[in-house]
Amino acid sequence: MSQHDSVRAVEWHDNHLVLLDQRKLPHVEKYIQLFNAEDIAEAITNMVVRGAPAIGITAAYAMVLASRKAFNQYPQDWRKRLISDYEILLASRPTAVNLKWALKLMMREIDKVEDNNDPIGKLLAFAQAIHRDDIEANYRMGRLGSALISTTHGVITHCNTGSLATGGYGTALGVIRSAYADKRIEHVYADETRPWWQGSRLTAWELMKDQIPVHLLCDGAAAHLMQQKKASWAIVGSDRIAANGDVANKIGTYGLAITARYHEVGFMVVAPTSTIDMDTACGADIPIEERPQDEVLSVGGQRIATPQVEAFNPAFDVTPASLVSVLVTEKGVVFSPNAEKIAKLMAS
Ligand code: MRU
Repeated sequence: MSQHDSVRAVEWHDNHLVLLDQRKLPHVEKYIQLFNAEDIAEAITNMVVRGAPAIGITAAYAMVLASRKAFNQYPQDWRKRLISDYEILLASRPTAVNLKWALKLMMREIDKVEDNNDPIGKLLAFAQAIHRDDIEANYRMGRLGSALISTTHGVITHCNTGSLATGGYGTALGVIRSAYADKRIEHVYADETRPWWQGSRLTAWELMKDQIPVHLLCDGAAAHLMQQKKASWAIVGSDRIAANGDVANKIGTYGLAITARYHEVGFMVVAPTSTIDMDTACGADIPIEERPQDEVLSVGGQRIATPQVEAFNPAFDVTPASLVSVLVTEKGVVFSPNAEKIAKLMAS
């Protein structure tokens, strides 16, 4: 691992998957061992692991476990027997397209296995390659994104896009790690990111662990921060980018993009091409996950909202491509993304 990069949330150990339980951070660093796809799907739905690339990598390993179970029990028709696990995994979270992307890649690999051969070794190597490629893509995006930042005091970020949300290093947080190492930024402002507190609990934890100066701010303070000229870039990740460049990301990202445009602050989206969904034409076609009301009504298991009041809890929103100054991917950088430029990038 390089400088300012010490955390890994998803790891394969011998014959099972190990996940850092992100629901317990920052106070408890607890790792969970998982041996089957059903438990992994539940872990994805319940946010033990979260962040689009990390969810995709986790699902790839889950398909190795699903294949092992199906092959051990039904060696003659194991491929058919793993379909139910595939479907449970696919439904575990709807917006992050890396999940569908990784599952499709695994299914293609499963189709290639010779009929009577034990598939596990090959499938595990394939899932590990998906994991490794993600980390490499993050390092590359880190370099490309950092090069766009001229020396500045601060940047603002939203949600958690770091090692916890990816195979390692991070997307937006990867750019921030690189830019800090390159001495291009001095300070990070992290939105606390209601209602799940990814900024307070995860981003602040990761950055402090890796000695990168960070201040938390409540989501509503971003406009004031920009008005005070304390941030010259807003840098975020994505859960799905449509073919026209519209960006789905954690709820609150759209508001941050509008605020950034008003204050002439650059708005950088950092995502591997596995997050670009060419089958989704535009942002309006992206399914937006709605999560339990209780996440808004309660904090740390304790209800704080007025009794009987109900909550609306969309987990993501869509930022139109026209508000994105630059998209950073492992294949290159796209300024003012649109359908034509995205198609060119994906064909390269
Ligand atoms: O609900 P989460 O925590 O899974 O949402 C995560 C995000 O919105 C991240 O910003 C996104 O996955 C990009 S990070 C690599």
